[in-house]
Amino acid sequence: MDDNKFYVSYNSVHKLVKHLSEQLLESGYDPEVIVAIGSGGFIPARIMKTFINRPIYAVGISYYGIDKKHKDHPTKIQWIDEVQSQLVGKKVLLIDEVDDTRATLAYCIGELLKYKPEEIAVLVLHNKTKEKDVDFPVEIKRYFAGMELADVWIKYPWDAEDIEDHTQKELEMLQAFAKEGKELYQ
Ligand code: G4P
Ligand code: MG
Repeated sequence: MDDNKFYVSYNSVHKLVKHLSEQLLESGYDPEVIVAIGSGGFIPARIMKTFINRPIYAVGISYYGIDKKHKDHPTKIQWIDEVQSQLVGKKVLLIDEVDDTRATLAYCIGELLKYKPEEIAVLVLHNKTKEKDVDFPVEIKRYFAGMELADVWIKYPWDAEDIEDHTQKELEMLQAFAKEGKELYQ
């Protein structure tokens, strides 16, 4: 197993989202709309809709341009005007796949807060437990992470060119964890 890579299958994504939907329910937060940060947040947001049945609005923010070059700051690559009118006074659930440096998330939250939602809760599949480049705005009171990880590179299934190989690598990784007595998923 490559120690620096953490493989996540579609099934594991589904399990994480289900678990997160239960945490959301237990917390008493009942979002009216989901905002998915593309592209990594799209599939987790769609799965969340299965559990909480709320409409999804998609925004595209990226640190990388279409040329895949890293930029100095996140930029909007897709921003639907309709989002603005749909968020006023609403409880929002903002979904992304990973909280890494937090730069993309914080930028997106700053933009969405301009639309005066009642509240924005942040939900990610994975949080990297490392020093973040930026903090969340003080308006963020609720934060849900499906799993906390050290600073590893997460391999998501939607990036896999060979999904069977990807799923197999996750299986081998999970077996290695199980040998150490660690069960990552219920
Ligand atoms: P953050 O606010 O969510 O912490 O994101 P940050 O700006 O630090 O991340 C920059 C890009 O790097 C994001 O992609 C994020 O999804 C991606 N990224 C960070 N860590 C990992 C990882 O461990 N594995 C993978 N696969 N991606 C990671 P993006 O520019 O939003 O592109 P997209 O892939 O979501 O379209
Ligand atoms: Mg992303």
